[in-house]
Amino acid sequence: MAETATIFEVGPRDGLQNEKAQIATADKIALVDMLSASGLRKIEVTSFVSPRWVPQMADAAEVMAGITRAPGVDYAVLTPNAKGFEAARAARADEIAVFASASEGFSRKNINCSVAESLARFEPVMIAALAHGIPVRGYVSCITHCPYDGAVAPEAVLDVAEKLLAMGCYEVSLGDTIGAATPDTVSALLDVLLARIPAEKLAGHFHDTHGRALDNIDVCLAAGLRTFDAAVGGLGGCPYAPGAAGNVASEAVLGLLSERGFDTGVDAARLAEATRFARSLRT
Ligand code: HMG
Ligand code: MG
Repeated sequence: MAETATIFEVGPRDGLQNEKAQIATADKIALVDMLSASGLRKIEVTSFVSPRWVPQMADAAEVMAGITRAPGVDYAVLTPNAKGFEAARAARADEIAVFASASEGFSRKNINCSVAESLARFEPVMIAALAHGIPVRGYVSCITHCPYDGAVAPEAVLDVAEKLLAMGCYEVSLGDTIGAATPDTVSALLDVLLARIPAEKLAGHFHDTHGRALDNIDVCLAAGLRTFDAAVGGLGGCPYAPGAAGNVASEAVLGLLSERGFDTGVDAARLAEATRFARSLRT
């Protein structure tokens, strides 16, 4: 039997968060429902963040209330703090994600606090989530480069990743926020991380700014990682990371994983329908 791999769909969140014109709530809901129908098992739907910081995600509660939940699909949301967690819980999110950075510059621009302050802020979120049986995913952004601080040392990524796992995150997603990683830098990073963290606790989150995302995923696959974040239609960008182009496209990751012999459970034809719709939402 083929080995399985997971595409963690982040298009409705990471993909759409950067769109300038407000996308209709009904269209966001329709996109999530099409993604559910394609066989994806993990879908990051939205973020419970400050609407002043990310206006596009201001309808998070309405989107969560409007989607049709497919059995076996986990609907995930981002939560930067306790306020976000309470809203996520009220919206019946299946899992939440806290998001930290390996670099100070991005942490300050993105969530208005230092890396250490962000981890302290996540502590009560983690405790409450775990008390309610809600799994928490952790992100580490800027795994090789920060748009503000430049090159990032693998040890800085290891430090934050280990702290997130020690706090109770079930998995840490490694964010190449501005798509600056290369197979060489990813390989050097994984050497450091995998000496301390099992591969099944790590996921790859690559933006395709310089067209290297699939090569970077290949390096991760060879190192034993089996979960990859991707956005349908290659939607994406981060409002607080200039130069962060779209996430690697889910359909391209599906192609790569299939070519490498992995089973993802995703139906390519149905995903293609979602891709067409996602592209039509771009402004
Ligand atoms: P702050 O201004 O320091 O927060 O922002 P504050 O606690 O002082 O609150 C300011 C205002 O925001 C208050 O409202 C709060 O109530 C409100 P006011 O009283 O002034 O009217 N507020 C909230 N409202 C709704 N939901 C909340 C919330 N929290 C506070 N959860 C804060 C700090 C973290 C809130 C802000 O910086 C923020 O929301 N940042 C989010 C930025 C973001 O979403 N970035 C994109 C996601 S990260 C990413 O894309 C990278 C990733 O893809 C991986 C990768 O690629 O590397 C994950
Ligand atoms: Mg991202």
